[in-house]
Amino acid sequence: MPRSVSMSLANMHIQCYFGVCLFLLGTLNLCLCHLTPRVSFPIGSPGRSIVLFSNTDIGNTTTLLLSDDEKSLFVGARDAVLLLDVSQPGVMEMKSKLDWSPSSTDLDDCSMKGKKKVDCHNFIRVLRFLNNTHVYACGTHAFSPFCTYIDVERLSISGKVHEGRGRCPYDPYQRNTAIVVDGELYTGTVADYRGNRPVISRYLSQAPHTDLKLDDTLGWLEDPTFVSSTILPSKEKVYFFFSEVGREYDFIDKLIVSRVAQVCTSDVGGQRTLQRRWTTFAKAQLLCHHENELPYNVIQDVIALPPEDGTSEDEMLFYGIFTSQWSVNSGRSAVCRFLLKDIKAVFSGNYKVLNRDTLRWSTRLQEKTATPGQASCGLHSASDNTLRFVKDNFLADQSVQPVGRVLSLVSPDHRYTNIAAQRIQTKSGRNYTVLFLLTESGFLHKVVLSDKGPHIVEEVQVFRNPQPVKNVVLSVTKGVVFVGSSEGVAQVPVFNCSFYWSCAECVLARDPFCGWDHSSRACIHVSNGSHNIVQDVERGNAKDFCRVPALTPKSRSNQQRPPAVSCPPGEHVYVLLNEVVKLQCPEASHLAVRHWERPNSRLSPDLYLLQDDGSLYFLATPLTLGHYICVSVENGYQQTLAVYSVTQRTSTTPQAVVPLHKKSQATTMQTALTTVALTSQGIQPEVVKTTVKIAGSGDTEPELATNEEVLRVTTTVLDEHSRQDSKNLSSFRQPRLTQADSHDGELQSLANSRTYYRELVAVTVMLVMSLCVLLMGALYTLRPHCYRRAGPQVCPGQDSDVHGSQERDPLSQPTVSVMKPSNQVQDKSLAGSNSTPRGSNGHLPNTPI
Ligand SMILES: *[C@@H]1O[C@H](CO)[C@@H](O)[C@H](O)[C@H]1NC(C)=O
Ligand SMILES: *[C@@H]1O[C@H](CO)[C@@H](O)[C@H](O)[C@H]1NC(C)=O
Ligand SMILES: *[C@@H]1O[C@H](CO)[C@@H](O)[C@H](O)[C@H]1NC(C)=O
Repeated sequence: MPRSVSMSLANMHIQCYFGVCLFLLGTLNLCLCHLTPRVSFPIGSPGRSIVLFSNTDIGNTTTLLLSDDEKSLFVGARDAVLLLDVSQPGVMEMKSKLDWSPSSTDLDDCSMKGKKKVDCHNFIRVLRFLNNTHVYACGTHAFSPFCTYIDVERLSISGKVHEGRGRCPYDPYQRNTAIVVDGELYTGTVADYRGNRPVISRYLSQAPHTDLKLDDTLGWLEDPTFVSSTILPSKEKVYFFFSEVGREYDFIDKLIVSRVAQVCTSDVGGQRTLQRRWTTFAKAQLLCHHENELPYNVIQDVIALPPEDGTSEDEMLFYGIFTSQWSVNSGRSAVCRFLLKDIKAVFSGNYKVLNRDTLRWSTRLQEKTATPGQASCGLHSASDNTLRFVKDNFLADQSVQPVGRVLSLVSPDHRYTNIAAQRIQTKSGRNYTVLFLLTESGFLHKVVLSDKGPHIVEEVQVFRNPQPVKNVVLSVTKGVVFVGSSEGVAQVPVFNCSFYWSCAECVLARDPFCGWDHSSRACIHVSNGSHNIVQDVERGNAKDFCRVPALTPKSRSNQQRPPAVSCPPGEHVYVLLNEVVKLQCPEASHLAVRHWERPNSRLSPDLYLLQDDGSLYFLATPLTLGHYICVSVENGYQQTLAVYSVTQRTSTTPQAVVPLHKKSQATTMQTALTTVALTSQGIQPEVVKTTVKIAGSGDTEPELATNEEVLRVTTTVLDEHSRQDSKNLSSFRQPRLTQADSHDGELQSLANSRTYYRELVAVTVMLVMSLCVLLMGALYTLRPHCYRRAGPQVCPGQDSDVHGSQERDPLSQPTVSVMKPSNQVQDKSLAGSNSTPRGSNGHLPNTPI
C-alpha cells in the first residue's frame, strides 16, 4: 500500500507539473499572438457538413478537373479516371469509372527496377480538357508514363494510348504541371526515369506549330520542382512556376529559389539554331521575404486571380504559398502576391549572362542584341546570332518583388501546401480577396485579406492524415472547394452563415460572405440579403453594429445598468461548504478572451483557479458564495456566456460519490484541491465528498452521464426526486473500493490509506498547489505586457478595450436572455439553448453545470 501511495504521489506531481506547463504554453501562445482561426470545424462537426466521396476500391483520388459548367468533376485516381456528378449541392455521385491499370508485365518490370509495389500503379497526373468532347490524360503507369484521349461522354479511351515521356512524371511523388491552350499541351516535368532531366515542353502542336522543348544545353533548369502553370488572359504566354537550385548564387551551396518562367504560345523554334527548341524561354526569381528574416524561398503552390472586370490584364494577381528551405523555419509558411505588370517589367529588363565555360552567371556587360522576354514574343525569324544570344541570356537580372514589398500573410505554425483564391464583393461594394489555404495536416483555412492584415475566419478539417499528394479546386459559382487526397474527394462549402447565431457572432466573424440581416434576424449570405444587412469585414465591430436598434426609455435605462448588478439569478448551484466548485464557461471563438466576474468584488488568484478551458475552480466558503458571471471579450465586444448563483445547501440531502472515470489532468487537479480542502478542515478524506449532478425530473441526459466534463467536481441540487432515489444513491456512498473502476486505483489508495502517508500526500499536494498558484499569479501579471506588445492588426481579438456593448447574448441560459430588452431579437438558438452541449465546434455547449 505505501508503495502505491508514493506512486500515485509521483503521478500527481507529474500531472500537476504538466498542468502548469500547459498553462504556461497557453499564455505564451497568447503572447506570440499567432494567426489563429477564429472557429474550427473538425471532421464530422455539425457546423460545416462536408461531403466526402470515398470508395474502398478507389485510391489516391488526387488529380481534379472541374468541367466548365461545373456539373462534373473528373478525378484522376490510382488506376482509374472517375466522373463525379456534382451538379446538385451537397451531392457527389460517381457517374462512371474508367479503369486504366498497367499490365502484369508492366508491373513486373516496375518491381524489377526495384520500385515499391504500392508505387507501381498508374497514378493519373495529367487531366486536361482538349476540347468539349475530349480530355487528355496521362498516368505514371508503373514508372513508365502513358497518355491517352478520353471521350467525356462515355468516359472511355478514344484513340491510341501513347508514350507519355516529358508529359507526366515517372515517380508518383514527383510534382508536375500541365495545361492545354488551344488544343496544345504545355508541360513541366521530368523526362526520365531517374528524375534528373527536367523539361518544359509543348506537345500536340498543330501546324504551323511544332512540338517544342528546352534545349539540352546546361543551365535552363536546375533540378526544378514544378508547382503550377497558367495562361495569360491574352493567351500570348504561358507561365510556369517552380522552385530550383539558384546557380547564380554560387556562394551558397544549393540555395533554392522560386521562379516564374515564360514561353510564348506563338513560338515555333529557330530555323538552324534552336530547332524545335523554345526561343522565347525566360525565367526570373520570385521573392517572398521579410527583412531580418530568412527568406521563404520554396514555392509550394500558386494561383492566378484574374483582373477585375474592366481592368487590364496587367492587374492580374498571383498568390503563392512559400516555405523555407531552412529547418529553423520549418512548419512556417507565407503567402506573397505578385502583379503581372511587375513580372512583365522584370522580363523586359536586363538579363544575366551565362558563361558556358565556367558556368557562372554575371550581369550582362556585352551589347544587348535581343530582349528575350520582350512583350511582342516575336523571335520567329530571328537571326542565328540573336538566337545564340538568347541561349545565354534567359535569366532576368532583376527579381520579382511581391506587391508593396510586403508579405500578404505569415503563418508561424501552419505549413500551407495548396491555395485557391476568390474575390468577393461585400455589402459596402468593396472587394475582398479570400484565400483558401490547405494545411499539411488537413485543414482548409479561409482567410480574408483586410487592410488590417489577414484574418482566418475559420478552419475546416478535410482529411485526417497528412497527405503527400493533394489538390484543391474552387468552384466560385457553387460556393465549394473540392479537395482531392488519398482519403477521397471532399466537397467543402465555403461558408455557412447560419452557423452564426447572433448579430455579434455574425459581425465578429468578419466573414465577407455573411452579414446580419436585422429584418429576418439571421446571419445570411450577402448576395441574397435584403438591404438591411450589417457586415464589417474590416474591423468586426460588433459593438457599433449590433446595438439594439430602437430602445424605449425604459429598456434603455435597463440596459445601462451595470451587468453585474442587473444580473438575473442565473443557474443555481447548491454547494456544501468546503466543497470544490467548478463552473464551466463555453467558448464562442478562439479569439475571445474569457474571464470571470463577481458583482462588487474581484476574483483573487489566491482563492480561484482559472483553467485553460475557461472553467473556474474554487472552494466553497462563506466568502465565495454568490454570483459568478463568465464574460467573453472579443474585439472590444463583451458578451455574457454564463451566469451562476452559488448558494449554500441547507438540507441534509444525500450525496453521491463521483466515480472518476478517467485520469485526466483536471481530475487530478480537482482531487488535489479536494484533498487540500478537506485536510485543511481536519476532515478525513476517506470518502471524498463530492456530489454529482442528478438531473431534475429523472431525464438524465445520457450525454451528461458519460461526459467526463460533467464528472469533474460539480455540485448541484439534489431535488426531491433524487431524494426518492436516495436508496439507490446510498450505494454510491459506499467506500470507493466497491464502486470504482480500475482507473481509480490511485484514488482508492489515497482515500483508504490510514497511515501518515496521507499527511505526506496532503503536504506535498499543498506545496505543488501553491507553486501552481504562484506561477499563475506571475503569469497573470505578465499577460498585460503580452497584449501591449501585440499589434492590433495582428490580433484584433485581443483589444484591451473591453467596455463593449452589454448585449446579453442568449447563449447561456434562458434565464440570461430574459435580461435582454423586450424589443431585442430573440435568437433562434434560444430555442435549443437548454439542449445538450453540441461539442467543441458546433454551437456553444449551453448547459453549464
Ligand atoms: C450550418 O450550421 C448550422 C448550425 O450549426 C447547421 O445546422 C447546418 O447543418 C450547417 N450547414 C452546413 C451546410 O454545414
Ligand atoms: C476533340 O479532340 C479530339 C482528340 O484530338 C478529336 O478527336 C475530336 O475530333 C475533337 N473534337 C472536336 C469537336 O473538335
Ligand atoms: C496512395 O494512397 C496511399 C494510402 O491510401 C498512400 O500511402 C500513398 O502515399 C498514396 N500515393 C500517392 C502517390 O499519392
